[in-house]
Amino acid sequence: MIIAANLKTNLTRKETKQYIQELDTYIKNNAISQEVLVFPAMSSLDENDTSIIIGVQNAYPTKNGAYTGEIGTTHLDEFGIQTILIGHSERRHIIGETQEVIVAKFNYYKELGFKIVYCIGEPLAKREAGEAEMMKYISAQYEGIDTNYENLIIAYEPIWAIGTGLTPTLEDIESMHKELKKKSPAPLLYGGSVKVTNAKEVLAVENVDGILVGSAALYSEHFCSMIQYAQELS
Ligand code: 13P
Repeated sequence: MIIAANLKTNLTRKETKQYIQELDTYIKNNAISQEVLVFPAMSSLDENDTSIIIGVQNAYPTKNGAYTGEIGTTHLDEFGIQTILIGHSERRHIIGETQEVIVAKFNYYKELGFKIVYCIGEPLAKREAGEAEMMKYISAQYEGIDTNYENLIIAYEPIWAIGTGLTPTLEDIESMHKELKKKSPAPLLYGGSVKVTNAKEVLAVENVDGILVGSAALYSEHFCSMIQYAQELS
């Protein structure tokens, strides 16, 4: 299974280093065979001697250049980073990234062979508008995306479940993942208010290949428990 932590705008470089070390020790001591990914804040990227896959939450589709506030592959290469999160709802809705921008980013990093964790998910209004409306919205997030890309992981994150403590029912996760599996053979993660208290049952849902965790992953012991659950279920 794939267990991923999106640290968002949290943890300094020093804290991140310690966090990664704690996870790494746990993984080694418990013979964990799951794929563990961590996405630190941009300024917390560093050289880390670890088996954990370190990715970026964002980068511009460029090597370098005049893109104020952005980083390019020059900066990723410095730390050997070859994994990127694309299409996260916070970038779509807070930063205002359009599907067009997202597709450009996807194609650029696909061309370089990066592991791409591609996020999709609907706002509450779309879910409440019914199945057809909701799936239309979700389908638009697949537009322009090579769903057969071999280094692709998809994360289904309903926007209303992110950081809210709300989660869809296990039945809703199961039916959504069943639908989404028809769109792409890529591993499919669930994200949105996954906690140590619900991770095990979410991981056990059919067609859930892993989880993408935000706030609850900030505590290394909680995240390690989730890794352990995945190990037990595998
Ligand atoms: P929370 O786990 O804090 O709801 O965030 C989920 C998320 O956005 C992961 O990318």
